Parts: sequence; C-alpha cells; structure tokens
Amino acid sequence: MNQRQKLHLEPPTGWMNDPNGLCFFNNAFHVYFQYTPTSPFGKGDRGWGHYTSPDLLHWNFTGMVLKPDIPEDRNGAYSGSAIEKDGILHIFYTGNVKKEGNYDYILEGREANVIKVTTKDGHQMSEKRVLLRNSDYPDFCSCHVRDPKVWFENGTYYMILGARTKDDKGVALLYTSTDLENWTYERHDTKENMGYMWECPDSFSLNGTDYLSICPQGLPSETYRFQNIYQAGYLLENEFYEWDYGFDFYAPQTFDTPDGRKLLIGWMGLPDIDYENPTTEYGFQHCLTLPRELTKREDGLLLQYPAKELSSLRTSYIEIELEEEDLTLPFDLEADALEERFSLSLNQDLKIEYDGSIFRLLFSSNEFGGKRGERKIKIEEPLKDLRILADLTSLEIYLNHGRYVLSTRFYPTCETLSLKASGIRGKIYSLNSMTFV
Ligand code: FRU
Repeated sequence: MNQRQKLHLEPPTGWMNDPNGLCFFNNAFHVYFQYTPTSPFGKGDRGWGHYTSPDLLHWNFTGMVLKPDIPEDRNGAYSGSAIEKDGILHIFYTGNVKKEGNYDYILEGREANVIKVTTKDGHQMSEKRVLLRNSDYPDFCSCHVRDPKVWFENGTYYMILGARTKDDKGVALLYTSTDLENWTYERHDTKENMGYMWECPDSFSLNGTDYLSICPQGLPSETYRFQNIYQAGYLLENEFYEWDYGFDFYAPQTFDTPDGRKLLIGWMGLPDIDYENPTTEYGFQHCLTLPRELTKREDGLLLQYPAKELSSLRTSYIEIELEEEDLTLPFDLEADALEERFSLSLNQDLKIEYDGSIFRLLFSSNEFGGKRGERKIKIEEPLKDLRILADLTSLEIYLNHGRYVLSTRFYPTCETLSLKASGIRGKIYSLNSMTFV
C-alpha cells in the first residue's frame, strides 16, 4: 500500500518535526516545519521546509527555505515563528550550535542564538541577523534556550522562549521590543513540578483569557496522564491541561486566520523515542496534525476541533450500523449519540472503548499500531460526542467537541478497513483527498 497521507502534511522526502512560523501572509497560509530532506531519520542538516495554501486544502511545497549556513546556526536552523510587519514577514528561529569536545551540553558546549530573517514572498529569505546569544539570556539559564514565538499586542512586540535553568527547571522567558530588532528581557514564567525544560512555548489569548502553551520535559508518567516521553499542554490559572492524549503529539503552534479564528497545528510525533514509523522504508517520516480550531468553553478550557475547511472534503455518508461495515480511508466519523458505554474496533487490530469513566485506545496488533500498546484517559464529564478523522496512516479522535483529543499514527495494510461499533450512532463520511504539489 502506498503509505502517503491524503489529508496531512508530510515531507516529500526525509524527516519532519515541529510546525514553525505558522501564519496567513500575502493571501496564503504558510506552514513551515523542521525538515531534514536527506534522511528519514532526521540525521543531517536541519532547517525549515515550507508549504503554502490559499485554503488549507490545496498545498504547494516550496522546498527547504532556511538552511543552516552561518556559524551561529551551523548545527540546525531550529524551531521558531513568523510575524508580519508592513507587508514583510519576519521570521525568528533558533540557531543551534553544538561544539565539538567533551561537554555535558547542558551547562556548556551548546549555543542557542535567536536569529531573524525577513521575506517578501515567504520563501526567499534575507540575510540572517543574530539578535540574541547565550550571553544575553538571564544568568539562571543553562545553554538550553530556544523556539522563539513572537506576537504583537497593544503596540508592543513580545517574544517568548523556552528554557532550562541551571538547576533544571523548565521556564519561559519573556522579551519585548518596539521594532522587532532590539529585545529587552522582562521576566520569566515557571511552575513548580513542571519538568526540567520547556520547549516550544506559545502565548495567546482567546476571548479575554490568556493561555501559555508549553512542552515540558521530565514529568513522571501517571496512569491516566503524561503517558508520552514529553508532554504538550497549556496552563490556565496555574493548572496544566494536556493538548492531546494519543501516542503522537508534540510542539504545537497557534496562528490566526483572516476571519478571526485561532488554529493550532502540532507535530504528530515525538523526539527521543525508539519508535520508528514504518514509512521510513519509503524514505520519509512523520506528519503534522490537521489544523484544529481552538474555542474557549464556558469553564475556560480549550476545545480543539478540525478546522471547518475540512468538512468540504466530505462526499457521501453511511450511517453507523450494528453490523460490521467496510470503510475506505480516509473517512470522517461523526457520532452525536453515545451510550454510557461504547466501543469501536477497526479490523480487530485497534479498539476504542469507554466504560463510563475510562476512555481507552488500544492496539492489539503490533503491525497495525507500530508496536505501541494503549493510551487511557480518565474522563471527568459525561461524553456526548465523538469524531474520528482517519487518514491513511493516522487517526485523530475528538471527544466532547475536542475537550479530549487523541492523535496517533497507525499502519493498516490496505485502504479498506472493517468497522464494528456498539453504543454509537452517527454518520461516517467518505473524504476527498487534499492536493499536494
Ligand atoms: C522540539 C524541538 C525544538 C527544537 C527542534 C529541533 O521537537 O526539540 O525544541 O527547536 O525540535 O528540530
């Protein structure tokens, strides 16, 4: 089976990780991403790849637009963000430097520079300018400081950076600027028992509430939480809420659409794990999530739901029946009637079940699940609806309109799967493909 996805951004060849520089600029959406074109395992020059789209459905790949080619980014043009000013896109990223020698690479041996480039068309970049170096960060920082996210608020530009302190606490550093060139350190945010390092911070407000999204490393696993090697979630009133409870989710970034929506895209993968996606056989690895619209619920919690553009890919539908049904990928299952207990299986290789309190996603076959086992969530409220967007090698499961989300890769051997459901009523739509050129 050709394992390329029909609805998700993947690298044409090689390796993809974090989404970077997400924005709408010059009448198009821009999705940059961490990219190593020469190796599906990510070994080699790491820089930024680039897709654009007028509508989030038709995508155009413009290549590797940022390469590590100055001393200050010689070991990688790492993650960052983009912001428009006066018709020009300003891109901020981390220049990664790993010195050769006998270093611990935490307190010494590594440089992390904030570098800026500008572009008028989204892919031809200006000369690089180094804005901040390790000596510019507060004294309490280790060498690990990265992933600038820049935004504009009330006449001031803000930049947030993820960092590890010398005594192993995850923090976010906040800088301000009036011109996007000169940056002043303001303060840092942290939280007790929130790991030794925060990567890929993002700060945004939605309907009057401020959220800080972080990727903490070093949280001990619990039965129903923190089941991946590293976490991704947001802080609201000093509580941490995981964005996603599936096997494959990390480093999300938010951006705004011209019609005023806030969307989020994450990486459907994780760093530093043994798991190898079988697509490496075809020379590429990893994809991004679908764009998800964020909305604020009455209690302040965020809901993530597939951006409305995706519904235009729907074609015909069938009702979910009690008998086994054959389904062709990709599909969009939308169930608005759930019994107190329900379950669903695909080919008997994957089972989804809810017993009134615990929601489980379980792979019973190694081949289908890429050798992963199960993920469990303790659900704190009645479950009312379920949506599953299934692409050729991924599933995104949304419960209660995206209060709980699980993203996972899976590897069926053919495009037709047999579905068996109980306690669930609703529709399953066939989906057209997006286009990628
Ligand atoms: C997160 C991350 C970032 C870094 C990038 C390098 O996955 O480790 O902190 O900038 O990936 O590719």
